[in-house]
Amino acid sequence: MENLPKTTDSATRLPQTGSSSNLTTLACTDNGLPARGYQTGFGNEFQSEAVPGALPVGRNSPQKPPYGLYAEQLSGTAFTAPRHANRRSWLYRIRPSVVHGSFVSYRQAALHHDFERHPTPEQLRWDPMPYPALPTDFVDGLFTMGGNGGPEAGFGLAIHVYAATADMQARFFYDADGELLIVPQEGRLKLDTEFGVLEVEPEQIAVIPRGVRFRVLLPDGHARGYVCENFGQLLKLPDLGPIGANGLANPRDFETPQASYEDREGEFELIAKFQGALWRAPIDHSPLDVVAWHGNYAPYRYDLRRFNTIGSISFDHPDPSIFLVLHSPSDTPGVSNLDFVIFGPRILYMQDTFRPPWFHRNVASEFMGLIRGVYDAKAEGFVPGGASLHNGMSGHGPDAETFRRASEADLSKPDIIRDTMAFMFESRFVIRPTRQALESPFRQPDYLHCWRGLRKHFRLPG
Ligand SMILES: [Fe+2]
Repeated sequence: MENLPKTTDSATRLPQTGSSSNLTTLACTDNGLPARGYQTGFGNEFQSEAVPGALPVGRNSPQKPPYGLYAEQLSGTAFTAPRHANRRSWLYRIRPSVVHGSFVSYRQAALHHDFERHPTPEQLRWDPMPYPALPTDFVDGLFTMGGNGGPEAGFGLAIHVYAATADMQARFFYDADGELLIVPQEGRLKLDTEFGVLEVEPEQIAVIPRGVRFRVLLPDGHARGYVCENFGQLLKLPDLGPIGANGLANPRDFETPQASYEDREGEFELIAKFQGALWRAPIDHSPLDVVAWHGNYAPYRYDLRRFNTIGSISFDHPDPSIFLVLHSPSDTPGVSNLDFVIFGPRILYMQDTFRPPWFHRNVASEFMGLIRGVYDAKAEGFVPGGASLHNGMSGHGPDAETFRRASEADLSKPDIIRDTMAFMFESRFVIRPTRQALESPFRQPDYLHCWRGLRKHFRLPG
């Protein structure tokens, strides 16, 4: 399948080998790290130890950490970032992260930052990316759709889709360029990270901070979804303003893993994404060897079904900012580098109102995906696993059939929208598609046709 991700550089697939250690109290299994549950809250000062007594008390870097562990700090913000924005964690691990071999280039041709310099303003839409014919893991299954900015600039994002059919075996990955917002659409993911295990299914999301090493296992044997790589400020919960103290995504529903580790030696490889390219280095042990950790820089997951959706109870459809889950601010107050917005189940009962999202043009640029069901602004063509891109000032809105139905709907009855979950990655910067996305066989060349049926209804009175 042309333009689809493949294993472009046959990675060495070596069997994992175990090693015994008097520190290993959790058995390693073929299912990867043992899942040990979660801590709740957003950006809390978490702490967790997989072995009692492994976490130093009263200091971060004792002369001799418990059980012969190494202490290592992982900073996600500048050392001097203001206290409310400062994010870092301390990891107590079997070996420090510097212990690995030399990096050499690793070619994964579908993952890159080659965004179009002169992108078309045309509205774009894609069908779901097909699964690859050959066994393909999460890293090799990533396919870049578009993006802007970059890690060297410290702002912007890259949007990828993934279709994977194999566990990551004997290899681990980290992204030095940005944090990863993972949105599964089909198939569960088991994310074995340095901080512990995150298990996510469609309608849940996971965020892996920049630099955190992890492995992706596929409990269902296959998985497909979306990834937004955030090069800008860390994702955070939005301020609520007049909404008040509660609502939208509530902090207590975010879950961060309890510490879990493996003490495993063998011939593995470490894949790094650095400045838009992939690199590989040999490593003779699993880097998922953090026995205890504390801090506020850690992976987390969130169930989108817990989002407290707020809307109009009088007239008009509110601006979609009301559906904001997480955002990465930019240097301009109120203008985001990245907004992650969802359109889930809700009830519309506004009166004398065209109830679906309205026609509009926008200074922001919008990449949409559909996790399940039907999006209420598109009667057909936008299918689960698919995507659309409406860049800055390109007109868009409900398709002709949706317009017709909503214009004639009986407003004495509520519209109860069930069984759906759409989302949007929105950016203040134009989302420049990649050439491979524009030329992919799963792009819909006739997307504009969905608005062709919008006829003139204008008539002067009399
Ligand atoms: Fe829009």
